[in-house]
Amino acid sequence: MKIGVIGTGYVGIVTAAGLAEFGHTVVGTDKDAGKIDKCARGVAPLYEPGLEELLRRNLDSGRLTFTADVDGAIRESDVVFVCVGTPQDEGGRADMSQIEEVARSIAANLTGYKLIIEKSTVPVRTSAWIKRVITLHAKSVQEFDIASNPEFLREGAAVGDFLRPDRIVIGVETARARDLLCKIYERFTERLLITNIDTAELIKHASNSFLALKISYINMIADICERTEADVEQVALGMGLDPRIGRDFLRAGIGYGGSCFPKDVKALVKIGEDLGVAMNLLREAERTNQDRVPAFVEKVKRALWILKDKTIGVLGLAFKPETDDVREATSIRLIQELRREGAVLRLYDPKAMDNMKTVFPADERLVYCSDAYAVAEGAGVLLLVTEWEEFKTLDFDRLRERMATPILIDGRNLFDPAELRRRRFEYFSVGRK
Ligand code: UGA
Repeated sequence: MKIGVIGTGYVGIVTAAGLAEFGHTVVGTDKDAGKIDKCARGVAPLYEPGLEELLRRNLDSGRLTFTADVDGAIRESDVVFVCVGTPQDEGGRADMSQIEEVARSIAANLTGYKLIIEKSTVPVRTSAWIKRVITLHAKSVQEFDIASNPEFLREGAAVGDFLRPDRIVIGVETARARDLLCKIYERFTERLLITNIDTAELIKHASNSFLALKISYINMIADICERTEADVEQVALGMGLDPRIGRDFLRAGIGYGGSCFPKDVKALVKIGEDLGVAMNLLREAERTNQDRVPAFVEKVKRALWILKDKTIGVLGLAFKPETDDVREATSIRLIQELRREGAVLRLYDPKAMDNMKTVFPADERLVYCSDAYAVAEGAGVLLLVTEWEEFKTLDFDRLRERMATPILIDGRNLFDPAELRRRRFEYFSVGRK
């Protein structure tokens, strides 16, 4: 069985390399020849721990190849994973034009039976549309099946998540498609959940939205903590000890970002509303998340009073640690608001500075620095936005010496309040005293 993977974004590149690691013969393809060239040389087109090793190992084994010839890759594959992007359009819906384009390419290259597997995060009913597009555009009558196999990997932990998944959801409508997918994932038989296609598609959106809901929920609780003597970390711990609630995704902070949660919550709201379902619960989760940045800026103002011409240091720009991804990062809205207030910004991130420079080019009021200590130079306050591991071991004395006033506002509750007090910092975090 030869597997084609269309798209070399997060999901595509990890799927291609991961399936090869499982022993399959895989061809990865993308219309972006530059990305394919990198992949073929064993250079990951994005920063993800462990990805380059996985790529190189499987390129060397000969099981994994790449080509920019999308049509050729489809023709030579028995199974095609669709992993192209579904960015958000202006109305908050997912833009499905890349998926439609791929469906037409598949139709044009349907030489015999193929199984088409939708892996990108898509609204429920997408696979049904793919099927219709292929049927409409196929040059001759050919047998094919459609399936949904949503991906649950997290950026920053993508390789491990793909190689050791906690569940594999498979949405199928024929026994042939089911048997093929079971074969592809035969090493995970006990973790397979087989459903119909709509269900599989909905599981993905429902999961991401539920996690986003959990984050907004704990952030709402954190706001109560800040107005009382309660401590949000302990509230989260106490809640999480109940196995029905669980401890994960109860970290209060400056809010969720990334290419998934903000987009998927909005998309599910639209899907529900288009179907006549009241989606207020999710709308509120989104609003709560939007409010996090203005509330954080209020904290900065309470610490500094006037922001105009003050130097403010920002530690962490990526939407989460262990990635260079800044899509929908909370740092972007924070930087916009601080600039509107007239602050001078000094920024640092271990991996995401090149990407951030495309959003905010450097100027005399926005300086990219080589490390956290350079950020602290002349700063009236330091803002911790992404909880990178290297920030945990910062030398606070060295930071304080460089700052105009030793104030630290921690948007991720990374530091110990008592330690910061000992180091003579004014320290504020989220939902903690
Ligand atoms: C998310 C899901 O966790 C994956 O299962 C899913 O496959 C992926 O979206 C996707 O749809 O492709 P990801 O966006 O990579 O993964 O990152 P997460 O670890 O889920 O974090 C998302 C955001 O929530 C980050 O900004 C993070 O800082 C924030 N977060 C997370 C919190 O604010 N608090 C928490 O307790 C957890």
